[in-house]
Amino acid sequence: MMDTILQIRQLEKSFGRRKIIDKISFDVQAGEVFGFLGPNGAGKTTTLKMVMGFLQPDGGDIVINGFDLKRHYETAMGSLGGIVENPELYQDLSGRVNLKMYARLHDGVTNDRIMEVAAMVGMQGRLDEKVKKYSLGMKQRIGLAQALLHRPKLLILDEPTNGLDPAGIRELRDILKRLAHEEHVAVVVSSHLLSEMQLMCDRVAIIHLGRLLGVRTIRELTDLSRQTTVYRILTPEAQAAAEILRPAYGEGIGELSEQGLDLEVATDRVPAVIRLLAMKGVDLYGVTRLESSLEDAFLQVTGGGLNIE
Ligand SMILES: Nc1ncnc2c1ncn2[C@@H]1O[C@H](COP(=O)(O)OP(=O)(O)OP(=O)(O)O)[C@@H](O)[C@H]1O
Ligand SMILES: [Mg+2]
Repeated sequence: MMDTILQIRQLEKSFGRRKIIDKISFDVQAGEVFGFLGPNGAGKTTTLKMVMGFLQPDGGDIVINGFDLKRHYETAMGSLGGIVENPELYQDLSGRVNLKMYARLHDGVTNDRIMEVAAMVGMQGRLDEKVKKYSLGMKQRIGLAQALLHRPKLLILDEPTNGLDPAGIRELRDILKRLAHEEHVAVVVSSHLLSEMQLMCDRVAIIHLGRLLGVRTIRELTDLSRQTTVYRILTPEAQAAAEILRPAYGEGIGELSEQGLDLEVATDRVPAVIRLLAMKGVDLYGVTRLESSLEDAFLQVTGGGLNIE
């Protein structure tokens, strides 16, 4: 059973005469981590601010847990927990006191609930230290605990991994996945990194210049047979290698250099390419995947045989 927690329909926003968000529509279900992926300036923060009620849309609808934000603002907001950028915390107070003060803003948040959310974000052992002694990752986790106190059905996090180190990112990722998959919260996270989204999300919406290019499951995005990527084949015999590859992979052959040649090919063809070259006696020093940029990811989504609705 699908339980739609967030519905966005034809959302629009302009700043001055510039249209920043152009008729965006998508749904987020309970129990999924939904990624909002796009380069700097794409309109991620603007969209999420409208969902969080900080910014008024020019057109379209936002429905949270069945309640339209325009007509039932308070009820809709009651289902939402969100953090934009850094959470505001009192630096000279402990994590526990910060949570208690925040809890007063909501009805019925008990001390037990405070301990429960602290455990969810892995901070139960550190609650009595002052916030100013926390690392950035710990502050983020207290911010997350705050957002969870009133049991929101929808959690919105704008670039939550900004500034975190790899270990911090991994911990946050695990927390968010657990919240979605075990507590059935609908979690929305934005990012400009596809690689990060792949590890964290169940589905990803790609936004570019204020327009939604498409929504894909991670499985669709990572289906190797449908994606082509540029690989650099390291060999002193680039010319010979190119001739061997030409009949089957001619269209993908890119630049030849002293280091080797670049070949654009579907990832599931790479083993066959290596076998072919090795069989023909070409010396191979390595095959590296050239980092695919976000633009490549967009191209894969828009032009790689996937239909955009
Ligand atoms: N208050 C504002 N007034 C005018 N223009 C704005 C305002 N806020 C955002 N913009 C513009 O809207 C566009 C989208 O900005 P937004 O912050 O939503 O992008 P983003 O996807 O969150 O980018 P980033 O990855 O850098 O956070 C940008 O071109 C930005 O300059
Ligand atoms: Mg932003």
